[in-house]
Amino acid sequence: MTASRGLQQRGAAGTSASVAEAKRPPETPGVTWRRKHILDLDDFTAEEVELVLQTAAAMAQVLRRGIPRVPTLRGRTIVTLFYEASTRTRVAFELAAKALSADVVSVAAQTSSASKGESLVDTARTLRAMGADVIVMRHPSAGAPYLLAEQQEASVINAGDGWHAHPSQALLDLYTLRQHLADLQGRKVVIVGDILHSRVARSNVWGLTHAGAHVVLCGPPTLVPSDLGPGAGDPLGLPPVEVEPVLDRALEAADVVMALRLQRERQQAGLLTGIADYIKHYQVTASRLARAKPGVLFMHPGPMNEGIEVAPEVARGPHSMVEEQVSNGVAVRMALLYLIAGTQPRAPS
Ligand code: CP
Repeated sequence: MTASRGLQQRGAAGTSASVAEAKRPPETPGVTWRRKHILDLDDFTAEEVELVLQTAAAMAQVLRRGIPRVPTLRGRTIVTLFYEASTRTRVAFELAAKALSADVVSVAAQTSSASKGESLVDTARTLRAMGADVIVMRHPSAGAPYLLAEQQEASVINAGDGWHAHPSQALLDLYTLRQHLADLQGRKVVIVGDILHSRVARSNVWGLTHAGAHVVLCGPPTLVPSDLGPGAGDPLGLPPVEVEPVLDRALEAADVVMALRLQRERQQAGLLTGIADYIKHYQVTASRLARAKPGVLFMHPGPMNEGIEVAPEVARGPHSMVEEQVSNGVAVRMALLYLIAGTQPRAPS
């Protein structure tokens, strides 16, 4: 079975809330959760994605209760270890861990012994020695979570590594889209902006194409990596997508528009001719969005640069899914923690 067929056949997410209170992850026919780490989506099967989405649906029911808490991960310790700034991802993982009754410790590299020169691996081994079952990490270097997964015993969840991957963001984006579109087969999804520096785009290309969506990348040619273009080879193993540098053309009949933050902190000389040019050609405005289908969904992983990649009337307009994405992020992170920590032996005390 192909990945996209697998997603189609299983339909929209919908698992009973009682799943969230079980001691073991839910059973999806043919799928047994075996992963110790979540590093990227590029090796997920369609069935694994489906299991995460179904588990997230059950977690969302837990979050709607008067007391949004279940005892599933009581006695487990989740550490968030962030070497880059974050609001949504870090807070969502921490709220998710608390909703599952885990103990949660937040470590910011700037105020930890990393600032005295302690290595990433030594930091993680130290956290493991104090009982960390899962380390949720963000790091500016692509591949850093893979190093930790190899070099110490705790489970690792990649919360964003350099330009490489942001799997939990792509999963919450899929979850949000499935709530509105049910089936992504053949849907036109335009990802617009600074694709070169975007780990969100890379993980979403995997998730969306495997779900059967028609993905169109749009941005200045200097900010769209050439390896993603049609027929340009596939050195990163990414599925083929369409590239359309003109935003008005890209938006024609789009079902979904996903704008990306212009990552000014990662720009190098020569990539941009100027912010004013970027706004003129690539800002998602209400008049541009009118070229898309009438019910188009506007998404953004955040944080948004309103007035740069998106006009305020779109960011907070009727098509915007942005707050819904953030809310769904808690349920999806609950699902990931539940699946990972619920299947691994506890850290030795
Ligand atoms: N989308 C996202 O990763 O946001 P944060 O940087 O706030 O975590």
